[in-house]
Amino acid sequence: MIAIDGATQATTRGLAGQITATGVPIRVDRGELGDLRVRCMDCGTVSPGDAPISRCPVCGGLLDVVIDTSTALDRATFGTGLSPALARSGVWRYRALLPAIPEAAIVTRGEGNTPLYVDDRLAAFAGLKAGSFGVKHEGHNPTGSFKDRGMTVGVSHAVAVGARIVACASTGNTSASLASYAAAAGIPAMVLIPEGKISGGKLAQTIAYGARVVQIEGDFDIALRLLRELTASHDVYLTNSINPFRPEGQKTIMLELFEQLGWDVPDVITVPGGNLGNTAAFGKAIDEAHAVGLIARKPRLMTIQAAGASPFFRYFASDWRTYEPMHAETVASAIKIGDPASTPRARRTIEHTNGHVTMVTDEEILDAKALIDQVGIGCEPASAASLAGTRKLVAEGVIGPDETVVGILTGNLLKDTDAVMHYHLKDRADGSRQALANRPIRIDATIDALARLLDGVIAAGPVASEATGSA
Ligand code: F0G
Repeated sequence: MIAIDGATQATTRGLAGQITATGVPIRVDRGELGDLRVRCMDCGTVSPGDAPISRCPVCGGLLDVVIDTSTALDRATFGTGLSPALARSGVWRYRALLPAIPEAAIVTRGEGNTPLYVDDRLAAFAGLKAGSFGVKHEGHNPTGSFKDRGMTVGVSHAVAVGARIVACASTGNTSASLASYAAAAGIPAMVLIPEGKISGGKLAQTIAYGARVVQIEGDFDIALRLLRELTASHDVYLTNSINPFRPEGQKTIMLELFEQLGWDVPDVITVPGGNLGNTAAFGKAIDEAHAVGLIARKPRLMTIQAAGASPFFRYFASDWRTYEPMHAETVASAIKIGDPASTPRARRTIEHTNGHVTMVTDEEILDAKALIDQVGIGCEPASAASLAGTRKLVAEGVIGPDETVVGILTGNLLKDTDAVMHYHLKDRADGSRQALANRPIRIDATIDALARLLDGVIAAGPVASEATGSA
């Protein structure tokens, strides 16, 4: 096992029980991968999972890892019977519901274990009762986004099958995460990014962790299409979420949330939708958790897209009759995706959970983000779609005022500082101020000027109180 955060094999000297990343790829005997199976969601064909596989070899459909849900699971089993590093990972503690990748191949950075913040100012903003709205903050993962949960499983599978290179197309977070986990595993990583369209923070992470960065003249959809062509004809391990192993890790966002709530699920879960890997993974987690008796009922899963990148919303609004890819434009660059690869799997989630899909404008996203930031939590723009969407769905009556809701915050505030500065320092196109703008105050460097300011600052109270009226 390769563990950056935790105890692994006992060592006789040195920092025993601590870091064991060696940077030397590990070899696993193919015979040990016999329990890995994938099933096509279209034609049902079951294929072995002992090699890189992202498409059904029979019909080309999307694949799911086969998880045995035929016997009930005891809630108390999670985290038990595992080595310390696996037990401490917020992903691998749920190993009983994950693919049986041999422990020797597992690459973990102690991902997951993210907080659930219940905040009544956010609840009031959404139109919900005090105590009824929480956000699960996936920005607390090692590279600052939920991608690490999928990547620990994806890269571990890549190690297990002996991949010589791992690759992804990305709007920035997948690439940062892949770069880090590939570095831990000692495998080269190549990432395709739409040139000039990902945030500086994410590009910096990806470069810093040592991935080979290929800038494509085109958007994310073009980059992913190119990479899929490459992986179909070349020996390159694809780590985008069409790879069935990645969503397996992302399932644990749901499992960990349910465990945090004592297995008493919220009525509704809202999640931003881009390539729809999370929407797909969450539905699989909910179905499986229900099948093995971990949860007594299913929460409704509601996906929120940016208005300028909303093909899944339009598909849903047509009663699943017409799906049309679109050219994507939104300030939330993480979800600027016009042809989501996991669309059929995400549709299954909405159907299985009696869910819903909506869209919100960039202005709604940015105002919700400013409030999440100002209550001290903070997130990147795309993440705030979950609060903006919750507010919209409450206003529309899709979510009842007495329901409990958890929104997923997918990425850290520091992922996109340009978005922060732009919102707070620049006026809107029509010359008006952003609703929650917090402008730095300039004064002369004198004690008098500073003292004059003080009373006004105290009287104004915390910035967030302006938005929520909770002064
Ligand atoms: N939020 C953030 C912060 C993301 O980075 C992404 C996706 C999403 C939401 C959407 O999640 O694709 O599962 O629906 N980012 C990918 C990337 C596309 O390349 O980093 P999804």
